[in-house]
Amino acid sequence: MQKERTLVLGSAGQIGTDLVEELRRIYGDSNVIATDIKDQPEAFKAKGPFMMADVTDAATIHKIIQENNVKQVYLLAALLSAVAENKPKAAWKLNMEGLFVMLDYCKENNDVKLYWPSSIAVFGTTTPRHNTPQKTIIEPSTVYGISKLAGERWCEYYHYKHGVDVRSIRYPGLISYKADPGGGTTDYAVNIFHEAILKNTYECFLREDTALPMMYMPDAIRATIELMNAPAEKIKTRNSYNLAGISFTPAILVDEIKKHLPDFTCTYKPDSRQQIADTWPASIDDSVAQKEWGWKHRYELAAMTEDMLIHMKEKYKVTT
Ligand SMILES: NC(=O)c1ccc[n+]([C@@H]2O[C@H](COP(=O)([O-])OP(=O)(O)OC[C@H]3O[C@@H](n4cnc5c(N)ncnc54)[C@H](O)[C@@H]3O)[C@@H](O)[C@H]2O)c1
Repeated sequence: MQKERTLVLGSAGQIGTDLVEELRRIYGDSNVIATDIKDQPEAFKAKGPFMMADVTDAATIHKIIQENNVKQVYLLAALLSAVAENKPKAAWKLNMEGLFVMLDYCKENNDVKLYWPSSIAVFGTTTPRHNTPQKTIIEPSTVYGISKLAGERWCEYYHYKHGVDVRSIRYPGLISYKADPGGGTTDYAVNIFHEAILKNTYECFLREDTALPMMYMPDAIRATIELMNAPAEKIKTRNSYNLAGISFTPAILVDEIKKHLPDFTCTYKPDSRQQIADTWPASIDDSVAQKEWGWKHRYELAAMTEDMLIHMKEKYKVTT
């Protein structure tokens, strides 16, 4: 009997880089197939299976699943918020077509479990900004948010209509050190750490008082895998779960970095990403995820900042 395998689509991005590593640690290197349209370094390919594959190419994706006895798929390929505003049609095409390729496959193969991430971008200016509830007014005004809201509705529809076991999280902005972020509105909270170590100064593209929900990548990866491993009967929310981590403004993050690098300075030059951020919540209520599958975040601002700075110093070989 062929072993059951896990497939990651869009594996070379910010989340996929960490997710593949953790899935391989859990299931074994050869049992997690990484795929992307971007080729990967030989060192990565030597560690476990990697295939070039476009998520909108149904025939190729379905073939990979069938030939490798894939039973779980993590669909990460998408155009993110800031990029999507500049390429609306391409964003809609990729974000929706990729999802349909997988939903339609799972409709015919109910034993394949699907993970598809949504985002806090589904919320809009009419949503309560603080402690945003799971069920609330959802009127996104960005291309990215519209595609994520549509995706959530389709996931729920395929679950109830066709028995698809699809699970989803509305990720907040994710902070990580392994891969660069892919063009989102919360990227400043990653870039700031690189520049803090390299230049001791940073020019932020959001206003200093812009509070946004964020999460450290180890928490996001743990949430994703815990959600996928939870018994199906516990997963009662089939559009997408709110997930809260840490909520902070650029000014608060700067103060936290200064505790480690007292001379660090930050200037502010808001650009078009400010308009996107202004439509998003400041903090999230994730009590439904806590109640239904036992979610709890671990990393607070201080621990995340300290860990990010340690890894940035390692990356840039800074010894002080
Ligand atoms: N990173 C965040 O802060 C964040 C927050 C909320 C939601 N999300 C969601 O999580 C998912 C992954 O985000 P990420 O930050 O890793 O994105 P990313 O941009 O860093 O990575 C996306 C990957 O998909 C690949 N890709 C693009 N088009 C493809 C195609 N046609 N076929 C196959 N691969 C393709 C890219 O090459 C890239 O490696 C996305 O759905 C995103 O909307 C991310």
